Amino acid sequence: MRAWVYRTKGKPADVLRLEDDYPKPEPAQGQLLVSLRAVSTNPVFFKTMGMAPMRYMQRVPCVPEGDFSGVVAGGSLDGTDLKLGDEVFGIVPAQITMKNGKGALAEYLVCDKDLVVKKPANVSFEEASTFPLTTFTAYWALVRTGKLEKGKAQRVFINGGSGGVGAYAVQLAKAYGAFVATTCSPPSRELVSSLGADDVHDYKESDLATQLSSKYSGEPFDIFFDTVGHDTSLYYKSPTYLKPSGIYVDVAGPHIDGSIGSLLRASVDFANRLLRPKMLGGVPRKYTFGMMTTDRKELEEMAALIGEGKLRPIVDSVFAFEDALKAYERQMSNRAKGKVVVKVSQ
Ligand SMILES: NC(=O)c1ccc[n+]([C@@H]2O[C@H](COP(=O)([O-])OP(=O)(O)OC[C@H]3O[C@@H](n4cnc5c(N)ncnc54)[C@H](OP(=O)(O)O)[C@@H]3O)[C@@H](O)[C@H]2O)c1
Repeated sequence: MRAWVYRTKGKPADVLRLEDDYPKPEPAQGQLLVSLRAVSTNPVFFKTMGMAPMRYMQRVPCVPEGDFSGVVAGGSLDGTDLKLGDEVFGIVPAQITMKNGKGALAEYLVCDKDLVVKKPANVSFEEASTFPLTTFTAYWALVRTGKLEKGKAQRVFINGGSGGVGAYAVQLAKAYGAFVATTCSPPSRELVSSLGADDVHDYKESDLATQLSSKYSGEPFDIFFDTVGHDTSLYYKSPTYLKPSGIYVDVAGPHIDGSIGSLLRASVDFANRLLRPKMLGGVPRKYTFGMMTTDRKELEEMAALIGEGKLRPIVDSVFAFEDALKAYERQMSNRAKGKVVVKVSQ
C-alpha cells in the first residue's frame, strides 16, 4: 500500500516520505482492517516525530496519525454491528502508534474494533475524521476530569476556542448545557461565536488574566480548560476567576523550545503547580495535566451528538494524500481554525 513513513526523528518535511510499497497491515484478533478515506492531523504526531528518541520511545519505521474515517475491509467483525463495506470513523491512540508504528496516514489501517463506529450520514469522510482525538480530549478534560454534568449549568472557560481541541470542546460544553467563555484572535471570532460560545475574549487585545479577573471575579468558573499552554500567569492568577472548588485542566503543557533553560523553567513551573502546598505560597486551585483517554461509550455518544447536529465538524483545510507535507505545514503554523485533513484517495 501507499503510506507516509518516517524512520528517523526530525521535522515532517525532513523525515516523512511517501512510500509506494509499504506492507499492508494484518488485523490481529479483536482488530478491524479499514480502507482509509480521510485522516486528520494532530500536533502530538509532529511533536513525537521531532522529539522522542527512536528505539526507546517509539517504534520505527512509523506511519503517523490516529484520527481516521474509511470503509470496513476485514478483521474481527464478531460482536460488532459492522459489516464489510460499512462507512466508519475512529481512532488509533498515539500511545499505540508509538508502540507498533501502525498509524493512519496510509491506505489501510488496523485498529481496535471498540474504537470504530459507523460514520453518521450527515458528515462526509473528511469531516468525520476530525472528531475523535479532539473530542476525546474534550471529554477527558471537561467530563472525566472537570466533572462537567448535563443540566448542571456549570461555568466553563476554554482557552483556545478556535483550535482543533478548543472548537470541539466549546461545542461539547454547550451540548452539556454549560455557560462557555473562550479566547481567540479577531479573525476567528465569528467561527467561535457560531459554535455557541457565550463570551469570546481577544487574547491579543490585552493581558488575558487581567481581562478575566475584571470580568469574572464575581461569577467565577467551575472549569478552566487550557488547550494553549504558554501563558503560565493564567494558572497563577486563576483564584480571581476560578471557584475555590474549581479545577484548572491543562492538555498543552508549558512551552519548551528545546533549550535547557526552557526545560528547567518548565520543570520548576510544573513542580509549583502540582506539588507546592498553599501554606508555602502555592496557588489555592487544583491543577491537572494529562493525556486524553479513549472509551467506547464516549465514541458512541460522540457519534450521536454528530448525528443530532450538536457537534459539527470544523475543517480548516483539506489536502490531497500526496500533499500531506503541506498539511503538516498548516498544522504546525499554530493558526489552523479547526482541523487539518488529508484525503486518502483510493
Ligand atoms: N494532552 C492531550 O491528550 C492532548 C490531546 C490533544 C491535543 N493536545 C495538545 O493541545 C494543544 C492544542 O492542540 P490543537 O489541536 O487544538 O492545536 P491547533 O489546532 O494547532 O491550535 C491552533 C489554534 O490555536 C489558537 N491559538 C494560538 N495561540 C493562542 C493563544 N495564545 N490563545 C488562544 N488561542 C490561541 C489559534 O487561534 P487564533 O488563530 O484565533 O489565535 C488556532 O486556532 C497542542 O499543544 C496539542 O499537542 C494534547
